[in-house]
Amino acid sequence: MENYKKWIPVLTKELNRFMKTAPSISPIHKNDHIKRVWVTSETLCKKLNGDQEIMVATVFLHDLGRHQGLEIHGEKSAELARPILEKVGFPSEKIPIVLDAIGKHDYTTPNEARTSIYAKILYDADKIDAFGKIGIQRHIQFYLRKGKTPAEILEMLEKRWAGLTLPESRKVGKAAYKIVKDYFLKLQKQQTRKAQKLTKRKIRMRQRLGR
Ligand SMILES: [Fe+2]
Ligand SMILES: [Fe+2]
Repeated sequence: MENYKKWIPVLTKELNRFMKTAPSISPIHKNDHIKRVWVTSETLCKKLNGDQEIMVATVFLHDLGRHQGLEIHGEKSAELARPILEKVGFPSEKIPIVLDAIGKHDYTTPNEARTSIYAKILYDADKIDAFGKIGIQRHIQFYLRKGKTPAEILEMLEKRWAGLTLPESRKVGKAAYKIVKDYFLKLQKQQTRKAQKLTKRKIRMRQRLGR
């Protein structure tokens, strides 16, 4: 087993312990999200010859602040991650790099401020998790049902795609982006056709009634 993988059960255990007392669990940032972000991050980190030990800790602890009911949660997550890393005996010289990447992963930090590869990878892998089949499910659940139109969702997705910081992330996320984009494009077309049919029917009704 590659040495960094020893942190997966350790950090999972800490994460589970943290969630038990967290005041406001965010369902879309739970362990399944963390695991998916980790798979993408591990791939990207390997491509960029990064330190997987830094990467795994960055990913596993990046959303702690989300479960405190905070939308802007990068800095809070970093603050909550520090004592956990110290407690589990994570290499102390790597802790500041982990905390920097976690602290800068939400949308309030501009891309230029994400200078380390870990900050860039985490940001991109987090965005890629909103693509693919899971992305379809998340966008239906959180945006479509709350009144956003397919066109608005497509615009959001395009912004996410354009905001990816690494060319490698575009390669890794391309297929998943196509899946979610195609789904909402189809939905948009269907809705447009439906609206057009309705309008035509209304016009015919008015003509029949002589108005
Ligand atoms: Fe986050
Ligand atoms: Fe996340």
